[in-house]
Amino acid sequence: MIIAIDGPAAAGKGTLARRLAAELGFAYLDTGLLYRAVGIGLKRAGGEPDNKEDATMAAQRVTPACLQDPALRSDEAGQLASKAAIVPGVRAALLEFQRDFARTPPGGAKGAVLDGRDIGTVVCPNAACKIFVTGSLEVRAARRAKELRERGEAVIDERVLQEMRERDERDTRRSSAPLVPARDAFVLDTSDMNAEEAFQAALAHVRSRMG
Ligand code: CDP
Repeated sequence: MIIAIDGPAAAGKGTLARRLAAELGFAYLDTGLLYRAVGIGLKRAGGEPDNKEDATMAAQRVTPACLQDPALRSDEAGQLASKAAIVPGVRAALLEFQRDFARTPPGGAKGAVLDGRDIGTVVCPNAACKIFVTGSLEVRAARRAKELRERGEAVIDERVLQEMRERDERDTRRSSAPLVPARDAFVLDTSDMNAEEAFQAALAHVRSRMG
């Protein structure tokens, strides 16, 4: 069984997806890390994120080991990722890895939870369960600022909000696999929910889909 979780930045996808996977004994893949690895790989190689060839080559060099790099968690990595994510060659290079993970989850798990922007629409359009997690820009920016602060980064709230707005726009407006809820997705707005409430609402939906 495949559970697809999509949505904009800092909507709570990661926390939710990880908890669902643990609850159900499924494998979990944060697909944003793949795009972040492309962004950071590009920067280290001295390439430009909007150069299609540089970006595609960086995507072809991503391996599972790259996903452990702590540098992927920075806000800069998120920005670079969303620039590289526009390039169709980048998306194509990362597609098989994601589909393989979903088809054959590691460790013999009986299912997989993938979170990202296009899991329910492009990567796994036949997923048994799709959840689109969203929330107001202000709430999401406040969550991200808190998260960065807790990690010891210097944070300017206004800047976090501005960068998140830019990233959401880039993700929503791109022509290749834009951020949009799948037609059959359950939309979960977490603006007024804490992590526990969001988890319970998502779990109830998943159970209804499992029959
Ligand atoms: O954690 P956060 O929601 O801030 O971002 P992320 O999930 O790590 O994704 C970083 C960037 O990668 C996004 O802004 C997207 O541009 C891109 N991405 C994508 O295009 N498709 C995916 N399936 C996952 C991420």
